[in-house]
Amino acid sequence: MLGDFTYCNPTKLYFGKNAMDGLNRELPKYGKNVLLVYGGGSIKKNGVYDKVVAILKANGKNIFEDAGVMPNPTVEKLYEGVERARAAKADLILAVGGGSVCDYAKAVSVSVHCDEDPWEKYFIRFEEPTCETLPVGCVLTMVGTGSEMNGGSVITNRKAKLKIGHVFADEKIFPRFSVLNPEFTYTLPKYQMVSGFYDIMSHIMEQYFSGTDDNTSDYIMEGLMRSLVHSSLVAVREPENYEARSNIMWTATWALNTLVAKGKDTDWEVHMLGQAVGAVTDATHGMTLSAVSMPYYRHIMRYGLEKFRRFAVNVWNVSPEGKTAEAVAEEGLAAMEAWMRSLGLVMNISDLGATEGMLDDLVNATLVMTGGYKVLDKEEIRAIFKESL
Ligand code: NZQ
Ligand code: ZN
Repeated sequence: MLGDFTYCNPTKLYFGKNAMDGLNRELPKYGKNVLLVYGGGSIKKNGVYDKVVAILKANGKNIFEDAGVMPNPTVEKLYEGVERARAAKADLILAVGGGSVCDYAKAVSVSVHCDEDPWEKYFIRFEEPTCETLPVGCVLTMVGTGSEMNGGSVITNRKAKLKIGHVFADEKIFPRFSVLNPEFTYTLPKYQMVSGFYDIMSHIMEQYFSGTDDNTSDYIMEGLMRSLVHSSLVAVREPENYEARSNIMWTATWALNTLVAKGKDTDWEVHMLGQAVGAVTDATHGMTLSAVSMPYYRHIMRYGLEKFRRFAVNVWNVSPEGKTAEAVAEEGLAAMEAWMRSLGLVMNISDLGATEGMLDDLVNATLVMTGGYKVLDKEEIRAIFKESL
């Protein structure tokens, strides 16, 4: 543990089958006008919407709806949401949905009292808010992003072919509270469910594969990855296995609630590659990560060989006896690939709609990170996308 850091996570969590009771505890803390933000309607089909509305009414709130937040929320939708929040004179934004809905709520929160263009200010110049912001609460229905307990917000600009995430440092942008009931995730289609599982794995790996110091966070992450691998294999067989789904929900939150990044460098290049695929194809986030991961990790393995060896032994139970570090590391990646295939993850960007003709756009949309084992140049990025096709 070599880095200095400050740690504070202000999000209050209500977890479990009765987590929704937490809404009754939280709502009295805020004013009357609630902007109720949700996506394309899954919450109306699975009954979560009715539960939330009943609690809002019981607490005497005025409900202003902002529906139709799409997966990978767009800048146009953000502008619309800002107008809705202004018209409602919202005191609280309540996001009910997955990472897209939570991310969008945060983006509206920092934009509603801001005179500048939020896309330019937050997603191009990466500034922190200089205006008043609105409190956000979440009722989570899709597991993976960690948005329920972090300051991240990812917005897509289709015209510019860019998908950009801003991780707000200001703790008041973190959700003030989040309601996590694993049963709310049972209605997810398998494609979304496993995509979320891989998003969790990727978040952990992005933070694990960096640095050479002995770091408490790496040991925590190995435990989280072991738990995820175990529970994900149960959940694909038995989607309504509460033990597995609740473990996965909790792992997802800890994978990206800022704790395991403390005192470490972090990589995040897989997310930059994946976000480029998302910008160009509008594909599901976790699948954009799974589709580029194996070519990326096989490419950088030699630059961080000792960590890849450790990953193989401690996460995938590869026996190191009598083998070179390289052989052990390769076995670890092979085990990971087998796990990914058994979940049914997308392993090629062509399966997400990407073509060779899009390579220039993909390379241009990929930000280069400097915290991992290899700082990629444009040719390496192109080669990884080509191999991912
Ligand atoms: O829109 P509805 O009808 O609600 O359907 C959604 C959506 O189509 C559906 N869904 C959600 N809960 C459901 C359900 N369907 C049935 N039953 C349920 N219980 O699932 C679809 C995907 O939802 P979405 O919110 O888009 O998924 P996810 O949670 O993966 O969020 C993806 C977004 O989060 C960003 C991604 O880039 C992407 O834009 N990320 C945010 C991060 C953060 N805040 O830190 C980090 C991540 O790396 C990620 O980049
Ligand atoms: Zn992610």
